[in-house]
Amino acid sequence: MGISGKTRVCGVIGDPIAHSLSPTIQNAAFNHMKLDFVFLAFNVKTGELENAMRGMRGLEIHGLNVTMPHKNAVIRHLDEVDSAVKFLGSANTILNEDGRLSGFNTDGVGALNALKKNDVDLAEKKVLLLGAGGAAKAIAFSFAQEAESICILNRAPEKAAVLADALNRVFGMKVVGGALSPNAVQKSLQDADVLVNATSVGMHPHVDQSLVVPQWLKPDLTVMDIVYNPVATKLAKDAKAAGAKVISGVEMLIYQGAASFKIWTGKSAPIEVMRKAALTKLGAGEHR
Ligand code: ATR
Repeated sequence: MGISGKTRVCGVIGDPIAHSLSPTIQNAAFNHMKLDFVFLAFNVKTGELENAMRGMRGLEIHGLNVTMPHKNAVIRHLDEVDSAVKFLGSANTILNEDGRLSGFNTDGVGALNALKKNDVDLAEKKVLLLGAGGAAKAIAFSFAQEAESICILNRAPEKAAVLADALNRVFGMKVVGGALSPNAVQKSLQDADVLVNATSVGMHPHVDQSLVVPQWLKPDLTVMDIVYNPVATKLAKDAKAAGAKVISGVEMLIYQGAASFKIWTGKSAPIEVMRKAALTKLGAGEHR
């Protein structure tokens, strides 16, 4: 699709941003659907967020993804936010409708859809979530709406406890938080149905690291890793070898992108096109 006088501009703001996969994924989807949209990456430094948001209104940029370091600070520049943004205190998607900016957080729904579309239903399932950072929080918020219980283990245990308390206030007493010790992971895995690594452990260049000893993994487990570089992390490889169902970080990336695409275009995203674009780019090693 060529650029015209009517082309709608979307993009992602963050710093650093040069290695973002979002332009690759979103432009592939826009082209496939023959939509007159283009997606760009904007490097926005911390002190420039206010100017960037003025720019969004002034230039009538239709939609933005927001990544580090702006996910929290961007909220005060928005006119309204969804329930996920309210709980999480962070937004990753903005829609501009005639100068009215709405904020959404599609990280959690992306993780949930990555499971659902790979035939994993969380109803009556016990989840072990490793990590309590921004990504873990978004995943926990969406999973708590469907899972039977969630155990959150984090290196800094107080963060897991604070997150568990916040979730229990909203969803009832089904979330526990604790320290990410090898013992706790092993014990919690004994009756977990779904394991999610929402820490950065295993990410390039530390590709030989995993928080889970291979012998603790079992065939009736579903393992999801938010790390997508490498596409197959050590945890994912160990889980596959143990006969477990594996859902890679690329799936979560794509489904959160698909949710943003739907917000901006009103159309269902071409998942396979997005997946292929992401995997090609990751395979080419252009992303870090
Ligand atoms: P994101 O937005 O990607 O979630 P983050 O908010 O910085 O990033 O969170 C990173 C998560 O990875 C945290 O849960 C962090 O644990 P701490 O809260 O204790 O820092 C976790 N993490 C990072 N490196 C880790 C490591 N080597 N071992 C265990 N957990 C680690």
